[in-house]
Amino acid sequence: MVDLQAQYADIHDEVRAAVERVVESGRFIGGDECRLFEQEFAAYCGVTHGVGVANGTDALTLALRAYGVGPGDEVVTVANTFIATGEAILLNGARPVFVDVDPETFTMDPGRLEAAIGRRTRLILPVHLYGHPADMRPIRELAARHGLPVLEDAAQAHGAEDAGVRAGGLGHAACFSFYPGKNLGAYGDAGMVVTSDAEFAARVRQLANHGGGAHKYDNVVVGTNSRLDALQAAVLRVKLRHLDDWNARRRELAGRYAQALEPAAGVRLPRERRGARSAWHLYTIRASGRDEVAARLAQNGVATAVHYPRPIHLQPALANLGGRAGDLPISEALSRDVLSLPLYPELPAAAVDRIAEALRAAIAA
Ligand SMILES: Cc1ncc(COP(=O)(O)O)c(C=O)c1O
Repeated sequence: MVDLQAQYADIHDEVRAAVERVVESGRFIGGDECRLFEQEFAAYCGVTHGVGVANGTDALTLALRAYGVGPGDEVVTVANTFIATGEAILLNGARPVFVDVDPETFTMDPGRLEAAIGRRTRLILPVHLYGHPADMRPIRELAARHGLPVLEDAAQAHGAEDAGVRAGGLGHAACFSFYPGKNLGAYGDAGMVVTSDAEFAARVRQLANHGGGAHKYDNVVVGTNSRLDALQAAVLRVKLRHLDDWNARRRELAGRYAQALEPAAGVRLPRERRGARSAWHLYTIRASGRDEVAARLAQNGVATAVHYPRPIHLQPALANLGGRAGDLPISEALSRDVLSLPLYPELPAAAVDRIAEALRAAIAA
């Protein structure tokens, strides 16, 4: 699905120089690389503050804590996402309330949002799934009407845009993952919370660093250790300089898939909502007979993946919330027929053509 070695071959010299700089500095936690990456990535997102943390799950968990989300509270989000979105809410003792998604863009359906907002709602948490931004204008408007902040789960959406504004600047704050396979991926785990609210950023930083106060051994609140390390920050600074080119290449390849597959009976291709610009983290189609299609593709040497085979309201880990099959018909239908095809910047155009041909053959069979 992804070839990180091919990417490394292209940036080998820059990465080695950056890693060497950190090793020679002897500064492995904090320091210039972390500070500069936070500044550079926040600026990339069009906001003023970035707080580097250990991974995307911590970014979400700590951001929710910084809002004061806790037991008795509800957070309105989607079930058509990676489990971490739900975990972050549950780890804070709050309850996720799920809104079904739009079948075209796979993201939160703003038309269903208001019905999910209640007395206990503390926050709205849309997910920019597969790199496609959620429909943020109506989500923000509704949230504002109810006096609620909007936190973006932008773990899959580095460089995505909605109405010309980049993910990270579309809500009050946003959480990113730099898991290796992401559009901007570290060489290990890493994450960030970005925002233009200085006070909020300071709260997240405090929670991520043992609840620290003005002095090293002041511990003002119970926090944790969730710091971004300097080696990851140095690698990410190198890669950030390539992100726009890589995303442009993803877009080109997504366009090539669309051309090669349109029209193909038995598949529905991903589309961008008008005004939205996907970061094309994944190229996810809908295919009837998805599991057989995937098996046939595998026989022909084409890797695919299912993101995600079960919406999180039906995960055993969330069983005590009482989610039932039928609660979220669109999310549940998607889990039965979505199929992600290989898409990464180094994928040759000829490979896209071959995969598209193999897909047509698999569907015809
Ligand atoms: C939508 C979404 N949210 C949150 C996360 C969590 O990020 P991490 O794996 O860095 O903890 C991921 C990453 O895989 C994700 O895809």
